[in-house]
Amino acid sequence: MASDLVRFSVAIPSTLLGEFDAFAARRGIAVNRSEAIRDLMREKLAEDELDEPDTEVVGSITMVYDHHMPDLTHKLDEVQHDHIPLIVSTMHVHLDHHNCLEILAVRGRSSEVHELADCLLGIKGVRHGKLACTVLQG
Ligand code: NI
Repeated sequence: MASDLVRFSVAIPSTLLGEFDAFAARRGIAVNRSEAIRDLMREKLAEDELDEPDTEVVGSITMVYDHHMPDLTHKLDEVQHDHIPLIVSTMHVHLDHHNCLEILAVRGRSSEVHELADCLLGIKGVRHGKLACTVLQG
């Protein structure tokens, strides 16, 4: 709401401002500087909130692995069956003769989601593993 907006001035080097404008234009994150800065502030605050163990987060865990690796698929299954409440959905794609892509949609306390990701991505043979999560805005 417009009535909630506060104006303040910030002094920054012109080169930094130029680089920021170019960054915002590349990313297409905003139509003006104020919106670009608001977006970045919200992003940083959400990132900070992610570090709080009790924060409710949603996101995905992406993994690529060779399903021929002995015992690997069994270990991945075991870990997932031990964390059923955190896993909303899974998708498995057989990429080629060797490689599988698995994507898990996850939801839960930040500390538990991170623990699950560490557990899965730490299994020998999992490549290109990544957790991406965000905080649900009320
Ligand atoms: Ni597969």
